Amino acid sequence: MSKESSKTIESVLHEKRVFRPSEQVSDNARISSLDDYQNIYDLARKDPEKFWEEAARRELHWFKPFHQTLNWSNPPFAEWFSGGTTNISYNCLDRHITGPKANKTALIWEGEPGDVRQFTYKELHTDVCRTANALRTLGIKKGDLVALYMPMVPEAAIAMLACARIGAPHSVVFGGFSSDALRDRLIDGEAKAVITADGGFRKDKAVPLKKAVDAALSDGSCPTVKSVLVVQRTKEPIDMFSGRDHWWHELVPSQDEYCPAQQMESEERLFVLYTSGSTGKPKGVVHTTAGYNLWAHLTFQWIFDIKDNDIYWCTADVGWITGHSYIVYGPLSNGATTVMYEGAPRPSNPGAFWELIEKHKISIFYTAPTAIRAFMKTGREIPDKYDLSSLRLLGTVGEPINPEAWMWYREVIGGSKCPIVDTWWQTETGGVMISPLPGATPTKPGSATLPLPGIEADVVDSDGKSVEVEEGGYLVIKKPWPGMMRTIHGNPQRFKESYWEYLPFINGKPIYFAGDGARRDSDGYFWVMGRVDDVINVSGHRLGTMEIESALVSHPFVSEAAVVGRLDDLKGESIVAFVTLESGRDVNDQLFDELRSHVSKEIGSIARPDEIKFTDALPKTRSGKIMRRILRALASGEKISGDTSTLEDRSVLDKLRK
Ligand code: WT7
Repeated sequence: MSKESSKTIESVLHEKRVFRPSEQVSDNARISSLDDYQNIYDLARKDPEKFWEEAARRELHWFKPFHQTLNWSNPPFAEWFSGGTTNISYNCLDRHITGPKANKTALIWEGEPGDVRQFTYKELHTDVCRTANALRTLGIKKGDLVALYMPMVPEAAIAMLACARIGAPHSVVFGGFSSDALRDRLIDGEAKAVITADGGFRKDKAVPLKKAVDAALSDGSCPTVKSVLVVQRTKEPIDMFSGRDHWWHELVPSQDEYCPAQQMESEERLFVLYTSGSTGKPKGVVHTTAGYNLWAHLTFQWIFDIKDNDIYWCTADVGWITGHSYIVYGPLSNGATTVMYEGAPRPSNPGAFWELIEKHKISIFYTAPTAIRAFMKTGREIPDKYDLSSLRLLGTVGEPINPEAWMWYREVIGGSKCPIVDTWWQTETGGVMISPLPGATPTKPGSATLPLPGIEADVVDSDGKSVEVEEGGYLVIKKPWPGMMRTIHGNPQRFKESYWEYLPFINGKPIYFAGDGARRDSDGYFWVMGRVDDVINVSGHRLGTMEIESALVSHPFVSEAAVVGRLDDLKGESIVAFVTLESGRDVNDQLFDELRSHVSKEIGSIARPDEIKFTDALPKTRSGKIMRRILRALASGEKISGDTSTLEDRSVLDKLRK
């Protein structure tokens, strides 16, 4: 642990402030007191299946009703709502357009250059149907995986819903990933088509997405990809390969404006989304139709206590799970108005977020701690220039939030009147697991507070036994829930081992662990401390240290590499790489830049090391394991504590210190 991290933990440990929901907030809320929450929680705990059964029947449209709520006879492979058929695109669109919501705004989109597009539910329905029909003309059938490599344009959401409509699982690849990373995902998922754009605007620059797709497909390693659908966004010149590439604006608008929603079995795939683990290549997390839909829907309703007149904005990218669940599926399934923004705050427009809130009278704002810390640093003068009075609720997600940033968010952005929901969850959990409910839960700066109804969360030791109050341990979930990932695409064994067999079974039952450490206080509140595995969180982006290491060693000059995270005031963590070179290779000034570009090319610029330390050797145990604990201490310039007697060559330490 570094100095800063112990400082953060110290301040969290001594955090005693409690903020109760105001009467005004509680009176208007669905769940309006801690007792209400406790009652629902107890109900769900006593008879989970009944709880989920009722919720699923009440909240989703079923073409055919399900006959079994949960089949957990072969854990950890769960089947939810067996026998039923539904469609998330139907739940997000069709069921709203026959009623008063038909002409309600579903999506407000603002482009980086300030262009705005809005869609009513009816309009969105038509666009999704046309796109679904376009995909069918390209030969996409139920079960075919479609990859999306898109900027934050409405077509990204439309394409997701269109895929879901015809039962083609989507796999969204974040537009910041490199062509090599895209290629890996296309191969692993055996994608049949790619939907992309000529480019996207990112911080005043045009990013060439289609070129990256061309590069990914150029060497013939993804033979399953037969077509590429291209949205025109930046109008930069691109190559179009006849027979393979199609312009969206030429193919989609001429399609029939209705496409029936495919009746999907509950457990048929909705999407695959790649995320980083502590070992190996990124894993394709699989989510299925009904359970995911229910969880995104219910959690959105609970956490944001959504009202018909809310204008809701989540600043994530659709390339991450937050964008899936809380830009697209959760809000639309509830018939809410969701805002999508292509841009980001940047030196030319540091007030971009606040301008958007003022302009669209946004009432719910959901963002990441790293963004809040960056705003704190540039000072409150910037947000103070804008009218943020439309806000009624604030949310945070992606990494632990330090109490200072939480307080700043509350006072400066929320005018001390908006509750803050600090939502803990993961790609694997499909939706939020631990979070305050705005009208019910007293909040404490830095705590995600309590698990949602139906979620049995705990903090355990390495034997799987609950730890004492205030003691640190592994954050685990003890019961299956509808939104849980179902498997890793193509690797059910890895799914089982990495999430459900990491800790021993308790009473013969597997428990879910996905890498976070936490503690609970005497009120039962959860304080998430961050990852305890070799996954690092850089500005809310999740990266495996192994992935970055393999990117580094794939460079011809590099012999060995070890990557660790160093606590960073702004980004949460920054990336420090220790590198040994092949013999005969010398360290020079260009090498640092070259290795950074190499990692950018292999993974994407989000994985670029902030610092590279060149060394003759890495500290290893006699069995050849790199001692990361030592590297972490060295990276943050602190004393190496603990046992170093297992080091194979102690002189390595002295050299590294120099
Ligand atoms: C990891 C999951 C879930 C959407 C965004 C990230 C960290 C997430 C919190 C929070 C503390 C958090 C965890 C988790 N994390 N939310 N509120 N407090 N840590 O999804 O890329 O799958 O990353 O993000 O470490 O394991 P992801």
